[in-house]
Amino acid sequence: MKFSINVDHVATLRNARGEVQPDPVTYALMAEQFGVDGIVVHLREDRRHINERDLRLLRELITTKLDLEMAAVNEIIEIAKDVQPELVTLVPEKRQELTTEGGLNVIDNIELYKNTIERLQESDIAVSLFIEPDLNQIDAAAEINADFIEIHTGVYANASSEEESFDELERIRQAAKHAKKLGLGVNAGHGLNYLNMKEFIQLKDVDEVSIGQAVIARSIFVGVEQAVKEMIDLVKRA
Ligand code: PXP
Repeated sequence: MKFSINVDHVATLRNARGEVQPDPVTYALMAEQFGVDGIVVHLREDRRHINERDLRLLRELITTKLDLEMAAVNEIIEIAKDVQPELVTLVPEKRQELTTEGGLNVIDNIELYKNTIERLQESDIAVSLFIEPDLNQIDAAAEINADFIEIHTGVYANASSEEESFDELERIRQAAKHAKKLGLGVNAGHGLNYLNMKEFIQLKDVDEVSIGQAVIARSIFVGVEQAVKEMIDLVKRA
């Protein structure tokens, strides 16, 4: 299993006072030095954390890979085509939400996602769809030629009982297996942390996890090096 770090919340802290520090680009470069497999940022339409300066600097400076999370809207598609991340992860985006709240409904918006995937793939950008561990949504993703799915792990992360956590992990296991059979790459993320990753790393069909909040938060207490390396050690046990 690989681990990409989402640095959005470094930018959230920076933007809280309109200052230049802490800089998400610096954090990303440090995380690369400590061994992460990739950098993830979400360029939102409202630019609440990551901005275009961050995205373009990351594109220039990072040496692993850049995964751009974004909504399927024209303005951001054009930016993606210009910046050329290795991967775009399409996510739903609502102005009122605190963070991404759930997966895409690919089935009901098939033309929109098909068209967006085609536009990005024309520019040699691989495309991942952030979806729930739902076999029908996975079939739809494969049908419109997505390269990857990212399984939404929010329900697993927020489970309020051991039973719910176990059931959801099983659902994710089946979803990942199904996606692999259809030839899709399988990423996963949202709400994963140092505790719930202990079980999650058993999932053999998940290629990569995308984790942000837990690692950025821990960096404040123990420093970037320790926080990043602790998660790398955990993921590498898989
Ligand atoms: N994957 C996606 C699609 C996300 O939207 C987010 C949150 O920005 C993450 C992964 C990372 O979630 P967290 O910050 O809870 O680790």
